[in-house]
Amino acid sequence: MPLWTILLTFIIIIYNMKIRKTNKRDSKKISDLHKLVLNKVNRKKDTDEFVDYLLDKYDSDYIKKKLDKGEVFCLINKNKVIGTVGLEDNIVGKLYIHPKYLGKGLGNKLMDFIEDYARKNGKRKLKLFPTNYAYKFYRKLGYRKVKSFIWKTDQFKRRVYIMEKKLKNKHN
Ligand SMILES: CC(C)(COP(=O)(O)OP(=O)(O)OC[C@H]1O[C@@H](n2cnc3c(N)ncnc32)[C@H](O)[C@@H]1OP(=O)(O)O)[C@@H](O)C(=O)NCCC(=O)NCCS
Repeated sequence: MPLWTILLTFIIIIYNMKIRKTNKRDSKKISDLHKLVLNKVNRKKDTDEFVDYLLDKYDSDYIKKKLDKGEVFCLINKNKVIGTVGLEDNIVGKLYIHPKYLGKGLGNKLMDFIEDYARKNGKRKLKLFPTNYAYKFYRKLGYRKVKSFIWKTDQFKRRVYIMEKKLKNKHN
């Protein structure tokens, strides 16, 4: 396919998308998206034990509780939820992009959105706990490893990194 056709497709996709706050009626769609991404994407770089643990946890009741606790936003394309991102205090989480849309700048778009949102809500620094899959993606966005700890469950033992980024004013 010629380059201009690919570029035009990306522009049309991005132009037609919108980001909105989620509500409880979205929880099944969000849970389905997270399960799909964990299976198709995260399994490539994270252990089966870790992915299976998250798959067990991420049912729609868990998502409903999370929607109560913090702010979760979704990226909509043609009435379908194709991405999510969330903020709980100063912790960014729930960043998932539908496998069909990976590598089209949508992860960056959701991170830009949540950083802006956090800035407007007075946050100066953001924190996150990267999956193995997303570690380099976050580094590209300026997040740096500040600490790590061992997370141990009955199913796995895993080193978890904490990454942080200071938010600059937009005009800087
Ligand atoms: C990580 C994730 C959100 C990235 O989304 P995406 O839409 O594919 O990312 P983008 O297209 O916006 O990529 C932005 C940049 O990061 C790079 N990038 C994206 N994913 C990457 C990866 N896994 N490793 C290294 N670089 C990556 C891209 O090449 C691009 O670089 P460029 O700006 O130099 O061109 C997506 O892969 C995903 O949903 N992963 C599974 C869920 C997950 O682990 N989420 C994180 C939970 S903490």
